Amino acid sequence: MTFKSFDPRIVQVDHREEQADITNAYRQAMKYAEDPKEWLLIAGVTGRGKTRLAAAIGNYCRDIGIAVMMVVAPDLLDWLRVGFSPHNPRSFDELFERVKNVHLLILDDLGSQSSTPWADEKLFQLLNYRYNASLPTVVTTNVNAVSMESRVRTRLTDPQISSMLLMGGFDFWGKSDPATASYARPRGRPPRRA
Ligand SMILES: Nc1ncnc2c1ncn2[C@@H]1O[C@H](COP(=O)(O)OP(=O)(O)OP(=O)(O)O)[C@@H](O)[C@H]1O
Ligand SMILES: [Mg+2]
Repeated sequence: MTFKSFDPRIVQVDHREEQADITNAYRQAMKYAEDPKEWLLIAGVTGRGKTRLAAAIGNYCRDIGIAVMMVVAPDLLDWLRVGFSPHNPRSFDELFERVKNVHLLILDDLGSQSSTPWADEKLFQLLNYRYNASLPTVVTTNVNAVSMESRVRTRLTDPQISSMLLMGGFDFWGKSDPATASYARPRGRPPRRA
């Protein structure tokens, strides 16, 4: 999955206007990949090309010599859980250190993992570490802000560090839900140019 093979016109959308969002997201993702700094949140409903675009960022960055890891959130938690067994303490530490410190982390499908106190804590620790260290991080999700743990949501949507790419129409802020009507839209800076 590369920028070359990604064709924004192929992505299936419900409304024609959404195609322009996909094309815009594609362009912004290319800019981000040229010099990945800070965080990029790629959000949209299922099948909008989020994983493809994130993988294109990862492959581009790897080809220009950046250390990259792309992990799917539920798979990462499974790996961490296996490594966390008392018989295997080092494998947990090693894997967790790698995902925490890799230069560019791509975390695919955040929100699709099963929520348990342990899983929530590990994801928070991972994202909070990278947030505090300002390490470039790309996150894809098809869940909206309301469904995210608040500690994770505040970091992912911090306009100081994070930009959001919407893949077509997606009610990320749950504006139709009165419980979230007071959330301000993020004023995320566009990704930097190289
Ligand atoms: N070469 C291509 N370039 C761009 N999009 C493509 C290409 N080939 C297939 N697609 C489209 O990609 C979409 C699926 O992409 P992807 O798996 O990245 O979606 P997603 O947003 O990650 O979905 P989910 O939330 O379910 O994980 C489909 O709409 C498919 O039509
Ligand atoms: Mg996906």
